[in-house]
Amino acid sequence: MKPKVLVTRMLPQVALDYVSQHSDAELNRRDIRYTKKQLIQRLQGKVGMICLLTDTIDAEVLGSNPHLKVVSNVAVGYDNIDVHAATKYGVLVTNTPGVLTESTADFAWTLLMATARRLVEADRFVRAGKWKEWMLMGFLGRDVYEKTLGICGLGRIGTAVARRAQGFNMRILYTQRHRDEAKESALRATYVDKMTILRESDFVILLLPLTPETRYYIRAKDLQMMKETAILVNAARGPIVDEKALVDALKAGKIAGAGLDVFEREPKVERGLLRLQNVVLAPHIASASMETRTTMACMAAENCAAGVSGRRPPNPVNPEVLNR
Ligand code: GLV
Repeated sequence: MKPKVLVTRMLPQVALDYVSQHSDAELNRRDIRYTKKQLIQRLQGKVGMICLLTDTIDAEVLGSNPHLKVVSNVAVGYDNIDVHAATKYGVLVTNTPGVLTESTADFAWTLLMATARRLVEADRFVRAGKWKEWMLMGFLGRDVYEKTLGICGLGRIGTAVARRAQGFNMRILYTQRHRDEAKESALRATYVDKMTILRESDFVILLLPLTPETRYYIRAKDLQMMKETAILVNAARGPIVDEKALVDALKAGKIAGAGLDVFEREPKVERGLLRLQNVVLAPHIASASMETRTTMACMAAENCAAGVSGRRPPNPVNPEVLNR
C-alpha cells in the first residue's frame, strides 16, 4: 500500500504526477486555503503533507496526527511551520533551497529598478492617456549605477543580488549576524553594521529569513536613519518591516520609495501603501517564474516521497529527527 499524503494546494502537473506515483495522494482540487479545522481533518491518516507558505503548520496541527512523518514546504522560507514543535513530535520538515535563488534575485532587482525609475507610476500615466508631451522633468527617478547597495542578509539570494550589482559597478555593503570573509573579495562587498547600511545605502535590500530576531528589523527609528533619497526593497518576509512605520516614512519623505514583494499580513496590504505613488507592490511573486515554481514543487514532492518512505530527503530542515 502506498503511503497516504495530503497536498494542501494544487501543484504543477509534473509534481502531482510524481506525488501520485509515490503515494496515495489527497489533493485540494478547489485550491482554496484550508482552515485550520479542515487542515486537521484532512491530515488524519496521512503520513506526509506537501504545503505552501500560506498554510500555518503550528503545534496544534502537528500534534493532531501521531502518524505524520513529513511536512514538505514548497518554499525556501519555513516561518509558517513551527519547526520546534515538529521536532518535538518527530516530524521531519523539508524546504526547497537553492532552486529559487536566481529567480528571486532577478525579481529583487526588478523591484529595485522599477522603484528607482518609477516604472509602474509611468505605466499608469501612459495607460490613463495623460501623456501629452515629452517632458524633460517628467518622472525623474534615481540612478542605480555606481550607487551604494546595502544588502541585509548575504545568504544565497543576497549573494546572487550582489553578483548582479557588479554589472552596475555599485559599492556593496552587507550586514548579517556573522561576517562571511570568503564571499567578500569575490563580491567586492564590505561587512558593516546595520546602522552603516541604513545611513550609507542608496538602496537597502532585505533578504533575511523571518525569525523572532528579525521581526520588525526595520522600524520607524531605522527608517529615520536612511537617506531621504534611499529606496527600500523587501523580497524576504513582510513582518521584517513595520509596515505602518514604512507608510509614515514614505509619506513624510524620510525615504524616497519602496519596492515590496511581501507584506506583514498577506494578502492584506496596509491601506496607506495602496495610496502612495512611490511604492511598487507585488503579490509575493519573487520566485514566480514558470521554471522555478515547477522545480520547487517537484523538489517538495521528492522531499515528501523520500521522507514518507523512510529515506533521507534531499532538503531536511530539522535533520536531527532522522537520527532518532
Ligand atoms: C518564497 O517566499 C519562499 O520562501 O520560497
